[in-house]
Amino acid sequence: MGMTPSAFIAHCQSLLGEQYVLLDETDKAPYLRDWRNRYQGKALAILLPKTTEHVAEIVKACNQAKVSIVPQGGNTSMCGAATPNDSGQQVVINLKRMQSIRGLDISNQTVVVEAGCILQTLQETARAQGFLFPLSLGAQGSCQIGGNLATNAGGTNVLRYGNARELCLGLEVVTAQGEIMHGLRSLRKDNTGFDLRDLYIGSEGCLGIITAAVLKLFPLPVAQWTALVAVPDIPSTIQLLNLFQKRTAALLTGFEMMSKDSLDLTAKQFPHMKNPLANDPAYTVLVELSDHESEEHARMLMETVLESAFESGLASDAVIANNLSQAQSFWTMREHITMAQAQEGANLKHDISLPISSLHAFIEETDRVLRQKFDGVRIINFGHLGDGNLHYNVAPPIGDDPQHFNRTHEKAIHDIVYAHVEKHHGSISAEHGIGQLKLPDLEAHRGSIAHQLMRSVKHALDPNNIMNPGKVLS
Ligand code: FAD
Ligand code: MLT
Ligand code: ZN
Repeated sequence: MGMTPSAFIAHCQSLLGEQYVLLDETDKAPYLRDWRNRYQGKALAILLPKTTEHVAEIVKACNQAKVSIVPQGGNTSMCGAATPNDSGQQVVINLKRMQSIRGLDISNQTVVVEAGCILQTLQETARAQGFLFPLSLGAQGSCQIGGNLATNAGGTNVLRYGNARELCLGLEVVTAQGEIMHGLRSLRKDNTGFDLRDLYIGSEGCLGIITAAVLKLFPLPVAQWTALVAVPDIPSTIQLLNLFQKRTAALLTGFEMMSKDSLDLTAKQFPHMKNPLANDPAYTVLVELSDHESEEHARMLMETVLESAFESGLASDAVIANNLSQAQSFWTMREHITMAQAQEGANLKHDISLPISSLHAFIEETDRVLRQKFDGVRIINFGHLGDGNLHYNVAPPIGDDPQHFNRTHEKAIHDIVYAHVEKHHGSISAEHGIGQLKLPDLEAHRGSIAHQLMRSVKHALDPNNIMNPGKVLS
């Protein structure tokens, strides 16, 4: 049985309560534009369910009314994945009212959390119980667990604890037809057929709606030491990474690379966030060690590894944070590169990963070609080097109008960067996902067989193409 749009809205209002069905344009506005201000959509309504049953009922009604759905969390996507199209016929289902932490199992070291829980809230709740929830990223004050899982988010702790996927044991999902898949299993071993959990993780809202998850917790480290290290070039940065890996093994929890240009930009936009290292090093590495033994043990390790780095010429200077607030200021500087870029004006982002052994050749070759073709172009290169993940971003020459520069050169610049990514067997999306931004590049990148298999999975799980159409797959 079909359902008219007005009957659909009335049904949602009676289910959720009128105040949770946003129809007014001013109320809808914050949900219709992406974080980077690249995409502006329209929507029939913004729906704010409170329970999994609400979500299931809405999805069923969407199937009847032939209304497609954009699931939305904190709306921090870097690739327009959570923004509706401009038809005005889609609904956004934002999970922000489903934020409860349903339970924490101390012996199993797991937590059951609803999809709308803000990442930082979960981190703080876990910490208060003596646990670490390690997923950590610049948007943690606003992104939601559901969004983190739907994008398989990465961030700054991946080299020790893995992506969101590795942190998830079970999922509760509302399928594209409105059934509830009860998969909140808190097992570390479970080989019972195809892994449906892993299908939904990273599916960017295109297969179903994640409503809750079982996530892993870890013991809180007793000590953390953070240092900024001045490094002359990329090969030395990689050798420094390998040195830390060899000498500190699982204690290495952060290894972030920041080029001089990226820190110059941060200091320009946020003058109180200046690199404390003298002489503007070509590269600054933020290293973090987390120790379960003692403060002294961690500090001693940091110092001895840095001494070896100085002796072998890998590093020329370093500053070890003396206290928590100094360590936080290092992280704040790192995490503000994105904000600095946003404030400076539109730029072309490339969230890529490469085998660590290919990073140097990739950067050298791609920098050279871009600088030859686009005189004065600024390359804002930083990222999770310990994971081989570069945020290789391209900004217009100083004085150029960013919008005009991007309109004119975006495709050519993407093509150059992605051709070098392919040459070095990398990925065009390390952690941000495909969304609508990289949709045109996906098929060429993954190959036609993989692309066709993805289409088959989409068709099998979402035969009415109701879930986030126009994202990931065209
Ligand atoms: P949204 O942006 O709302 O949605 C993202 C995608 O997930 C969309 O496709 C949406 O449809 C889908 N979705 C959302 N919720 C659900 C759900 N419950 N069920 C099904 N699908 C859903 N990303 C990283 O990986 N690493 C970083 O270090 C990082 N740093 C960032 C720093 C800043 C300042 C910003 C703005 C973003 C950063 N991001 C990073 C990108 C982004 O924050 C992450 O991808 C985050 O995981 C998205 O979560 P969200 O709740 O905002 O999701
Ligand atoms: C980061 O690592 O800071 C994020 O992924 C955001 C970005 O790429 O700008
Ligand atoms: Zn990142």
